[in-house]
Amino acid sequence: MDTRAPFSAEPVPPAIRVENLECGYHGEVLLRNVTFEVRRGEIFFVIGGSGCGKSTLLRHLVGLLSPTKGSVSYFGRDFHSRDLAGRRDVLKTFGVLYQSGALWSSLTLRENVALPLELYTALTRHEIEEVATLKLAQVGLAKFADYYPAEISGGMRKRAGLARALALDPSIVFFDEPSAGLDPITSRKLDELILRIREMFGTTIVIVSHELASIFDLADRVIMLDREAGGIIASGAPRELVATSTDPRVQEFLRRGDRVSDAIPRPELSRGPSIQ
Ligand SMILES: Nc1ncnc2c1ncn2[C@@H]1O[C@H](COP(=O)(O)OP(=O)(O)OP(=O)(O)O)[C@@H](O)[C@H]1O
Ligand SMILES: [Mg+2]
Repeated sequence: MDTRAPFSAEPVPPAIRVENLECGYHGEVLLRNVTFEVRRGEIFFVIGGSGCGKSTLLRHLVGLLSPTKGSVSYFGRDFHSRDLAGRRDVLKTFGVLYQSGALWSSLTLRENVALPLELYTALTRHEIEEVATLKLAQVGLAKFADYYPAEISGGMRKRAGLARALALDPSIVFFDEPSAGLDPITSRKLDELILRIREMFGTTIVIVSHELASIFDLADRVIMLDREAGGIIASGAPRELVATSTDPRVQEFLRRGDRVSDAIPRPELSRGPSIQ
C-alpha cells in the first residue's frame, strides 16, 4: 500500500550533498566521514588551518580526484558514479577558481574568458567575444579586455579568473582561497563582487578560505576541517559557532589573536538573501 500523503511534494534537493566522503592521496586517507549539504544560493565556506585538507576536499568535489568512499551529488544527481561524459556534463555547470588563479599568460583577458566558451559552446566567434567582454564588464574589467595577465594587478587577475569561472553561467562556483595574496582593501572588493554575483544570479558559492574577515562577512554557513581529527569538527553559521561552540579548536580558529575585532561585519557590505 502506498502510504505517502497524496499531495506531498518531493523536497527540492540541495545544490550539493556530500555523504560519508573519504578523501586522500595514494591510499593515505586525510579526511573521513565528510558529510554536509550546500543549499541552493548559499555562500558556503570550507575553513580550517593550513594543511587540514581544504583544497583536497575541493579537488574531490570538482572531480579532479575520486573519493575512496562516499558520494557527492549535485542537484540530486550522483556525480562520481557517472561515466566521463556524464561527469563532463556536470562540470560544465561549475565555475572553478583555483588557489593559484591560473590564467594563461600568453592570452589576453578576453581570450582567457573566451576559452571555456570556445571549448564548451557552439557560439560564433563574434558571440564569444561579446560574452567574454560582458563577463569582464561584470567584474569591472571592461577596459582591460586586451591586457595580458602580467600587465594587471593581483586583484585584477583574481577578478579576471572570476570572469572566466562565470563564462558558462555556472550554477555553482568554487573558489580556493580567493583572497590569498591580496591586500585587505582589494580582498574586500573581491568579497563585494562575490556577494553581488550571488545577488544577481542566485549562484551557489563554495569558498575554501581561512580569512576571518571574508568568513564573517560572506559565509551563510561553514564546515571546519581539522588535520588531526581527519574530518569535519564543526559546522554552522560562523557567528553561531563563535557564540556556542565549546570546542577550543573552533574558538581558537575563529577568535585567533585579536582578529575577531577585524571580523565584525563590514557595514558597507550588503548581503542579499540566500536563495533556497
Ligand atoms: N598532490 C598531493 N599528493 C599527496 N599529498 C598531498 C597532495 N596535495 C596535498 N597533499 C597533502 O594533503 C594535505 C592537505 O593539503 P591541502 O592542500 O588539501 O591543505 P589545505 O587545507 O588546502 O592547506 P592550505 O590552507 O595551506 O592551502 C597536506 O598535508 C599535503 O601535504
Ligand atoms: Mg589549500
